[in-house]
Formats: sequence, C-alpha cells, structure tokens
Amino acid sequence: MIDFPPRLDLARLPTPLTRMDRLSAEFSGVDIWVKHDEMTGVEVSGNKVRKLEFIFAEALAQGCDTVITCGGVQSNHCRATAVLAARLGLKAHLLLRGERPSWLSGNLLLDHLSGAEISYISQADWHTHEDYGRELQADYERRGHRAQFIPIGGSDAIGLWGYIAACEELRKDFERTGIEPDAIVVATGSGGTQSGLLVGRELAGLRARILAFNVCDDAAWFEQKVRRDVAAWSERYDAAFDVESLAIDTIEGYMGPGYGEAGPKVYRTIATVARREGVFLDPVYTGKAFNGMLSELRKGQSGCLAGAGTVVFIHTGGLFGVFPHHLQFDFLQDPKHE
Ligand SMILES: Cc1ncc(COP(=O)(O)O)c(C=O)c1O
Repeated sequence: MIDFPPRLDLARLPTPLTRMDRLSAEFSGVDIWVKHDEMTGVEVSGNKVRKLEFIFAEALAQGCDTVITCGGVQSNHCRATAVLAARLGLKAHLLLRGERPSWLSGNLLLDHLSGAEISYISQADWHTHEDYGRELQADYERRGHRAQFIPIGGSDAIGLWGYIAACEELRKDFERTGIEPDAIVVATGSGGTQSGLLVGRELAGLRARILAFNVCDDAAWFEQKVRRDVAAWSERYDAAFDVESLAIDTIEGYMGPGYGEAGPKVYRTIATVARREGVFLDPVYTGKAFNGMLSELRKGQSGCLAGAGTVVFIHTGGLFGVFPHHLQFDFLQDPKHE
C-alpha cells in the first residue's frame, strides 16, 4: 500500500482508457490505447490537475491564501492553477514568460477569466523567474498573506504524487481491460509527469517501460531533472527508493523548431487523429509526442518501440493551446487535403 500525503478531490477520476481501433489497424501486432487525462475536467483538463490535487492540499494545510506559479504565456499548468485557485477561493499570481500579447486567447484568456494576477517576465530575464517568484512570495507575507510558490509545471516533490497515483489507477485499468502494456508513452516538458510515472511504475508494479518524448530541452536535461525531482521526493517523504536504478527513457527528435512551435507534420497528425479517432491533440505537447510515437512504430524493429505489442499513450490535455495556432491549420480548407 502506498502511503499518500493529503490530497484534494479536484480531478474527475478515473479517466477512461480506450483503444484506438483505426490507428491500431495500421500496424500489424500493435494495439494503441489512450489514457484520457484530457478528461480530468473541462476548465482544469489535462495532467496538471493530478499534481495540483496534492499541491493545493499542501497550500491549504500551510494556511495559504495565494499561490504563485510560472510558465509560458499559453501554459496549461498556469491555467489549471488559476482555475483551481478561483474554485478554492485563493488568489493566483502567474509569472508568464515573454511579452504581453495584444489579445487574449486560449489558456491566457482563461487565466484572465479566472481573475489571476499576471506579471510578464521577458525571455531575457526569464532565468531569474524563480528568484522573482520567491521575492514575490516574501512580499505577500510582508503584506499579511501567505503564498505558496509552485515551480514550473507543478514539477516538484509534492507534484510528483500526481502521476504516482495515476499509476495506481493504470494498474486497475489494466486489470479491468486485461491488457499488459509494454510501453507507456507521454510528452515531457518540465519532467514531473515523467518522474511520477517512473516512480509510480515501480510502486504499482507495472511492467511497461515509460517512454517520454521531449518538447523542449534534451534527454540529458531530463535525465538530471528527473533524478533531482525523484531524489527530492524520496527525501521529503522518507521513501526508500533507488533513484540510481531509474530507467529514464527520453526520446529526442520530435520537438521540431522549438518549444511552442511545431512543424507541419505535427499539425497533420493532430488532424489525422481527430478525424480517425475523435481525439484532439495539441501542437505543443501531445501532438509532438503522438507524432513521435507513430513515427517510432513505423520504424518497426529499428524504432524505440520495437517489439511493443501494446502501447498506452497518456493524453495529457492541452486543447486550449490549439486555438492560438489556428493559422497553422489553414491546410484543412484545401479541398485536396485528405
Ligand atoms: C498538455 C501537456 N502535456 C504534457 C505536459 C508535460 O508535463 P510535465 O511538465 O509534467 O513534463 C504539459 C506540461 O506543461 C502539458 O501542459
């Protein structure tokens, strides 16, 4: 039995696990399943709410009335934090990377609707955002408030519990459906979902490998980040865990031009999966990871999924991030488009 720390009931769980029948039929001997974490809620949809169930529980236990967090202008994590703060009667203060855009769209619109206070930090100064966040936290304290600082993506020792708990859910899913997956595929950005899955896999006794497709940075960065977060988790919760033995598989090659920007293949994959399966991916995270997964499956024996018969893709959400990319979908208006 895993001894979980306090947790709020904020996500709609368990999320469904379904088979992609038409896409699976394109590969001989491969079953593709999707764990629908894009259905953890509507406004709070995606992977972040799983982490935030533990992070907000801690914030409330500490008597916080404010949460401070940070991310890109279209951060799904910041949006989920802003919405949950509004739901719990707390204030959210978001530090967003870049310039204030001339209009509100996607996640940023929802941040504003939720009443979050927003500060922009330029790309050039972004390396100081954690220091700034901590100063802001102290400033709130001086003004008689109590603020929790949540790092990018909610990826810290507390947030790690989100996907440890998700592995328990997956274990039950696999028992119920009778599948024995060889691989669990996910997009990785700040590493917290990947770290939680790696620890959760061990604790829940799953045999599937965790394959994480990076959408920023590189495999060496994730190797370090995951080890650091897992070590911090194991220390904080006094959990005996062999950090050195973690098999951290970060698959490079599908990030495209950079974080937040995608090549044409990703937009086409998003359209194909929407048409064939009725599942909507996003261009920043899940579209890249799914495109990577399909490409690796097509490579057969030379791909990183060689020999995998059953693969589970964790759909981590991101739908609101599709809308700011609407111009990239112009090809859908071309009558010759398949
Ligand atoms: C839709 C979506 N998928 C995947 C990720 C990656 O999760 P993590 O930051 O835990 O690596 C994020 C987080 O930024 C996300 O918003």
